[in-house]
Amino acid sequence: MNKERRLIIAGNWKMNKTVAEALDLVNDLKRELANLKEVDVVICPPFTALSEVSKAIVDTNIRLGAQNMSEHNFGAYTGEIAAGMLKEFIVRYVILGHSERRQYQQESDECVAKKTRAAHAASIRPIVCVGETLAQREAGQTEKVVGDQLRGSLAGLSAGQLEETIVAYEPVWAIGTGRTATAQQAQAMHAFIRAQLAAAHGELVSRRVRIQYGGSVKPSNARELMGQPDVDGALVGGASLEVRSFSEIVKNSI
Ligand code: PGA
Repeated sequence: MNKERRLIIAGNWKMNKTVAEALDLVNDLKRELANLKEVDVVICPPFTALSEVSKAIVDTNIRLGAQNMSEHNFGAYTGEIAAGMLKEFIVRYVILGHSERRQYQQESDECVAKKTRAAHAASIRPIVCVGETLAQREAGQTEKVVGDQLRGSLAGLSAGQLEETIVAYEPVWAIGTGRTATAQQAQAMHAFIRAQLAAAHGELVSRRVRIQYGGSVKPSNARELMGQPDVDGALVGGASLEVRSFSEIVKNSI
């Protein structure tokens, strides 16, 4: 597939997999994907498996991501994990502002923006998630909601930092529901997001930002979704938990 930007496919394991289970999956993934050069492949295990998974993927093309991090560098923040701690495990990406965190941990755009800036300060690439709920889509508020989330969550970034930021468009109604946005719906929102980035930061920057689609990505829909001009990859939840579905998504995207 001839794309303007390099595809990036990330697996968000959420709160799944013990260390032993994580290593089983990683060893299988290595067999399928380790030598693949066409796409950036990232896996995001829970914090507790980062250390072992990190060792298991040394010398492969698979990169490590975390699912969250603190906006603070250290201190009295019980239960939090700082960027510097992630760096110990060669974590190169971090998912920020996932809709589940926005919903269950009440993370605001302002909080996501602080974390995004902290990630850049530590040279970890943030994957910043945005997306509307079904009620918001049905009320015709999709662009307003996503536009506000983008502006808020990416506030204060330099052009250079923005280019190293990955935006994940994840319509909440498509996450874990089996209901995927159509390729046309995804492309329309990705083009909207890129236009917003162009208006705020210039055309050149906007053309360099990679925008992932997330929400029930499967082997059967990956090719069509990735074939859209403004879709530059996928953030995969459920289908990233098994070697077959995740590696087929990656291979079908090439
Ligand atoms: P899903 O999750 O692929 O299971 O819909 C996507 C996500 O939450 O990132």
